[in-house]
Amino acid sequence: MLSRICRRTIQKEIRCFSKGLEHMPGGVVNSEKFREIYTPTDSIDGYYEKVRKPRERIDPTKRAVNYLVLGTMRMFYVTFGRMAILRFIQYWSAAADVLAMATTEVELDKIPLGTTYVAKFRGSPVFVSHRGPADIEAARADDNAELRDPETDAERCPNPEWMIALAVCTHFGCVPIAGAGGWGGYFCPCHGSHYDKAGRIRKGPAPENLHIPEYKFLDANTLLIGNE
Ligand code: FES
Repeated sequence: MLSRICRRTIQKEIRCFSKGLEHMPGGVVNSEKFREIYTPTDSIDGYYEKVRKPRERIDPTKRAVNYLVLGTMRMFYVTFGRMAILRFIQYWSAAADVLAMATTEVELDKIPLGTTYVAKFRGSPVFVSHRGPADIEAARADDNAELRDPETDAERCPNPEWMIALAVCTHFGCVPIAGAGGWGGYFCPCHGSHYDKAGRIRKGPAPENLHIPEYKFLDANTLLIGNE
């Protein structure tokens, strides 16, 4: 504010001074040099007048700036919203490796009689046990035994030669050992759960039988675990 007042005062002084000198014949202001140097403007040195924006180009509403600020903010909102939606969808989608394993095929002729193959299905291990006649007989003999989670062998193994169950203990989720335990089926060493040859819980803290995933036999030699 003070500088503006000073500037105006100086301008006024110069104008008065020039006006006074103009009328003096042969004065300084009538010289070529003075005319070359001095240009009457609103500012002291005239530089501001040269570089300032023409008045007709000044928009008092500052519409362009407002549009720029609003547009930039909206661009950020849209980008943020888009990223949030994408992240949400990605978070709830199954991982690519899990999707790739939505179903698992097992070649049965590679599993010898009396052994268990551990397949991987949707990130979890699955027992595929090839049972012999003695195993089937032992499992069926216990259909009427006192069971914590009663199920018959035929219900659990429609194809008696093959016992298929998730290799995840129903107590706290450890992976049991096949062909071990008091009933020769599966044994969980974490807290000592014994499952028989049909995967039924017989002893220990596990509350349920081993869970059976969805599966089907595509042909005599191919087992498909999971839903297509
Ligand atoms: S997790 Fe298997 S017995 Fe506890």
